[in-house]
Amino acid sequence: MLACPVRGCQRPLARDGRQLRCASGHCFDVARSGYVNLLQPQDKKSKQPGDSAEAVAARRRLHDLGVTRPLLDGVADVLKPCSSNTVLDAGCGEGFYLGSIVAEHGCQGCGVDLSIAAIEAAARRYKNCEWIVANADRALPYADQSFDAVMSITARMNTVEFARVLKPGGRLLVAVAAPEDLIEVRGRGKERVERTVDEFRSSFELVESRRVTHRAEMDRAAVEDLRLAIYRPMQSEEAAAGLVTFSLDLLLFRPRRSMMEA
Ligand SMILES: C[S@@+](CC[C@H](N)C(=O)[O-])C[C@H]1O[C@@H](n2cnc3c(N)ncnc32)[C@H](O)[C@@H]1O
Ligand SMILES: [Zn+2]
Repeated sequence: MLACPVRGCQRPLARDGRQLRCASGHCFDVARSGYVNLLQPQDKKSKQPGDSAEAVAARRRLHDLGVTRPLLDGVADVLKPCSSNTVLDAGCGEGFYLGSIVAEHGCQGCGVDLSIAAIEAAARRYKNCEWIVANADRALPYADQSFDAVMSITARMNTVEFARVLKPGGRLLVAVAAPEDLIEVRGRGKERVERTVDEFRSSFELVESRRVTHRAEMDRAAVEDLRLAIYRPMQSEEAAAGLVTFSLDLLLFRPRRSMMEA
């Protein structure tokens, strides 16, 4: 399913020892931990460089506390992955959602993130998936119609590429922070559902919308990790222990049928 990212190539990439190689001879090293960096010079231009190693480590500690487990259960419940499915996670971070879904549902998982630190962490822990460094806002390094499901968990939104890599009748799950998400740490957020549905409207129709909310008691170190994970390192004020709200709007879309199929 992997396609060569070199501009104008897009030939299939096949494993050749410690490399991936296309028929035109472009090749990419497989890192010791198992991931592949397919970032091309033109893909490096991004408004956000991807998560720092510090933010990745903080997010992993939070997932490891179990506070996001109810969110994962909600994602799996809406996405309904099954063992024959191929699933892409765009902006997968350190791999918690995709790695857990693949471990629990037996599908084939591919994770993409712009951050080498995030993909390195994902590849070290979740050996059950394929992990790629790529810019999900640009061309995704996969052939057309490669996936039964694409997910984006508080991450990238690339309507054109998600539509291209999904199989006909596939599903797209987009999770956005609900207004109450982390309200104790960063105040009330925006309502994002309408804007997100609009973003995908040209190629996708919304088939389900579910809000999943969980409150957890967190100590000071965990609250500080939250701030690091959302890029707001503690400044003068001390992180206070207390109850924290985690809340996501889970939006399930189906590709609109094209004129050709109709
Ligand atoms: C808020 S984090 C969410 C990570 C993961 N989905 C989770 O929920 O644990 C957003 C992720 O998007 C990644 N990212 C930012 N820009 C990106 C891009 N252009 N392409 C791919 N990933 C990107 C960041 O490195 C980060 O891992
Ligand atoms: Zn090539």
